[in-house]
Amino acid sequence: MLSISGLSKTYEARGGGKTLALTELDLMVRRSEFISVVGPSGCGKSTLLKILAGILPRSTGEIELAGELLTGPSRHIGLVFQAPLLLPWLTVKENILVPAKIQRLDLVAAAKRADELIEMVGLGAFARSYPKELSGGMQQRVGICRALIHDPDFLLMDEPFGALDAMTRETMNAELQRIWSLSGKTVMLITHSIPEAVYLADRVIVMTPRPGRIVDDIAIDLPRPRDLAMHSNPQFGEYVMRIRRHFNSEGSLDA
Ligand SMILES: Nc1ncnc2c1ncn2[C@@H]1O[C@H](COP(=O)(O)OP(=O)(O)O)[C@@H](O)[C@H]1O
Ligand SMILES: [Mg+2]
Repeated sequence: MLSISGLSKTYEARGGGKTLALTELDLMVRRSEFISVVGPSGCGKSTLLKILAGILPRSTGEIELAGELLTGPSRHIGLVFQAPLLLPWLTVKENILVPAKIQRLDLVAAAKRADELIEMVGLGAFARSYPKELSGGMQQRVGICRALIHDPDFLLMDEPFGALDAMTRETMNAELQRIWSLSGKTVMLITHSIPEAVYLADRVIVMTPRPGRIVDDIAIDLPRPRDLAMHSNPQFGEYVMRIRRHFNSEGSLDA
């Protein structure tokens, strides 16, 4: 689905200062795979996602997505940010349809798809509600629907649950697992939470402090569907410890 080779990114400040954010990054992601990415703050995780989303140019390297070389924003990608950034004057359904309008999709088909997505995330009763009438978790579900409206193959999520309280976050993890298994999408989730990364992923990618490189790539061999009891599974604990050790030795993960 995705193949990244030799990716690096240097930010150049106007005064001539340079920041090497990513270096020599190689990664392959299979179709329908769920990948979590963890790494210390400032290691280039958001930079990686912005490059994949085609909204930030890379310095070196090649990226192939769904069989095509990536040169800019791709219709294969849907993006979910930490804050859902919903428009307060639009209803849930209207917010979900915003990208469909911008991309000039068939609006009749898009409206039907919006209804299906709203059902899928359990917001059937709220299609005509306004964002302020929803909880944080519900708003983030709307953000996920909006990212899926053009039916991308690949969902990129940048710390989507970071602003939610712990209990809502657990619910959203279960919800995301369900959405992923129903939709068959490929997902790359950036998170500060090691348990969240392990709970959701087929593979966890661990990055070093800046300049970001991949130091570990761990296949998570735990049965699915996973429920919250998984957190007390000894093997789950071993994966969490293995990831945590990277940060104990190389500086801390700020979570
Ligand atoms: N627009 C920018 N200009 C210059 N430096 C940047 C810019 N965006 C990010 N950086 C720097 O690149 C590094 C990686 O940032 P980022 O990808 O946001 O990290 P993360 O998401 O892992 O916390 C950081 O040191 C950050 O300060
Ligand atoms: Mg970030």
